[in-house]
Amino acid sequence: MSIESKRLLDPAFGGTSMPADGYSGLEQVRSLGADWYLGQLAASGLRGRGGGAFPASMKWNAVARQPGPRHVVINGEEGEPASWKDRWLLRHRPHLVLEGALCAAQSIGAETVWFYVSDAPTAALLEKLVADSAGGSPGVVIRVSLVPGAYVAGDESSAVSFISGGKALPFMKPPRPSDKGVNGQPTLVNNVETFANAALVARYGAEWFREEGTQASPGTFLACIGGDVAEPRLLEVSYGTPLPDILRHACVDRGSIHGVLMGGYFSGFMPEALLDQPACDEALKPLGFAVGNGTFSVVAKTRCPVSVIADLLAFFSRESAGQCGVCVNGTQDMLKAAVALREGKGSQQNIERLAHLGRVLMRRGACSMLDAAAMVAARAIEHFLPELEAHLGVSCPKCAERPLDFAGGFAIGDVEQLLA
Ligand SMILES: Cc1cc2nc3c(=O)[nH]c(=O)nc-3n(C[C@H](O)[C@H](O)[C@H](O)COP(=O)(O)O)c2cc1C
Ligand code: SF4
Repeated sequence: MSIESKRLLDPAFGGTSMPADGYSGLEQVRSLGADWYLGQLAASGLRGRGGGAFPASMKWNAVARQPGPRHVVINGEEGEPASWKDRWLLRHRPHLVLEGALCAAQSIGAETVWFYVSDAPTAALLEKLVADSAGGSPGVVIRVSLVPGAYVAGDESSAVSFISGGKALPFMKPPRPSDKGVNGQPTLVNNVETFANAALVARYGAEWFREEGTQASPGTFLACIGGDVAEPRLLEVSYGTPLPDILRHACVDRGSIHGVLMGGYFSGFMPEALLDQPACDEALKPLGFAVGNGTFSVVAKTRCPVSVIADLLAFFSRESAGQCGVCVNGTQDMLKAAVALREGKGSQQNIERLAHLGRVLMRRGACSMLDAAAMVAARAIEHFLPELEAHLGVSCPKCAERPLDFAGGFAIGDVEQLLA
């Protein structure tokens, strides 16, 4: 298990001009055929890097089974406020990402590949890349779709809806995009990093891919280490690497932190005491956490955990797409309870309300943003109950120091600097 830049961060894959050896993975797929590649993909065990860790080959086969025409969407919306890895890959490894998507198009029989992004400079770079490499992918049209950024815009159904000419809002599944996606046609939506890995599987095969990571979580993932750190870092980490090693690598002193927001805002606030785990879902899921999209926001002891919880709930209540009553009301109710506690005006009832909503809101929305919000409340009750209770009728100086942050408290500041 390692922390080394040997795959996606390998400079050999860098640059915005066509690689000298062309798209050798795509050539391999063309010459050995779709069955060979889909077999390699299944054997590689590649899972989605957008947060859900869904097995890539299952989704690809589901789209391939549907009648055409079919689409491929490269999801680079990256609405997670503390993440920049997808934009980094699109800026610095665009050919690897495109090669993976073209391998997908070749093997599932898709005619259109969409880059779906919310970052205008990245979109401009991709437009140029597409124009420059025109003709390199006969039979496949490549397009760039620029969406106004929002947390829910990254959901795969929002992507499908926006590209089809609608609003970037989630719809209730089923139907899944694999059955009914862009323009009502079968659509494969994967994360940017998933496609970059798919290109590596095409180039080097499943066995090579499995040389890193664990049996259930093969390969590496890009980790955005941010939050209360001296310097945010983008690392390439093998699944299964101990979390303490990753934090040490990013110069984080465990003694000075309350914990880490694992997998961005989605998976919840993991307390420091639980951090002696390997970075893989096999280890984290039983504890109620996940690697998610690989974002780790470090929470220093200079913050109060209750203000962290309130900030996260403020973010989710702001980002609720306003489509599902249960989400609008549920996120606002949780926020109200957390704010009352944060301000020292809360009661036992507020704590009970958070516990109740953390339980009952799961899987109730059209998209899983509501699950993420409920998870924040549930994990807060599970791991920070003494801190919540200590705020009953008491004004907390650390909470008072910071205004409530509707960006969730850990949004990256100068993203251009991180993307340079
Ligand atoms: C509210 C919400 C936001 C999401 N944002 C993103 C995103 O920014 N990027 C992404 O790749 N997936 C995002 N997802 C997950 C996508 O719906 C989808 O599962 C993913 O793009 C599939 O790719 P993967 O299997 O390669 O991870 C989001 C999901 C939800 C519910
Ligand atoms: S669950 Fe919330 S964020 Fe998701 S679609 Fe419904 S209102 Fe929008």
